[in-house]
Amino acid sequence: MRPQPDFIHEFVRGKSERTLLLLHGTGGNERDLLPFGRELDPEASLLSPRGKVLESGMARFFRRLAEGVFDLEDLQNRTQELADFVISAAQHYEIDNIHIVAVGYSNGANIAASMLLFRPEILSAAILFRAMVPLVPETKPNLHSKHVWVGAGISDPIVPASEPTQLVELLRSAGADVTIRFFQSGHQLTPADIDVARDWLRTLN
Ligand code: MLT
Repeated sequence: MRPQPDFIHEFVRGKSERTLLLLHGTGGNERDLLPFGRELDPEASLLSPRGKVLESGMARFFRRLAEGVFDLEDLQNRTQELADFVISAAQHYEIDNIHIVAVGYSNGANIAASMLLFRPEILSAAILFRAMVPLVPETKPNLHSKHVWVGAGISDPIVPASEPTQLVELLRSAGADVTIRFFQSGHQLTPADIDVARDWLRTLN
């Protein structure tokens, strides 16, 4: 018997080999990013788990001690747990596990960045909206075949511009091909984020 994917999640089968792994922000759920996923790639399958950590009733993908201060042990454990979920979901739904693209917003972007750093084999690419440096690994992964797009808000009150800039440096220093774009916005996503990310995604095979 195939292992059962053990996160609450949505799965929408698409027509192409690509699967978008949709990772919501704090207080979100597995349905939040489905419309964005469809806008980003109308043909892809969508796999969208709900974060298992609850903070005052709000779902997240890992614990934090305060705004922007992460519980690093929990982050590392949750990163492994999410990566294992993706593997079991890929087997369960019989999806091609070499074309998985993470699409994360805020807390979801932070755990997607952590997956790139600690379980890079899971993802071929990642779209990170309003991401921070989740943590700096002791050993750099090999990200030479990975493509990453980072979308930041110029006036984001939660994620200062230094965070996405440092994340880009970290990912590039590990060999990833990284594109960063700043938008005239705060922490919220804008239609321009989706348009520009969609155009970037179209350039990938
Ligand atoms: C996080 O906790 O991952 C970041 O502070 C973003 C957020 O979820 O507010």
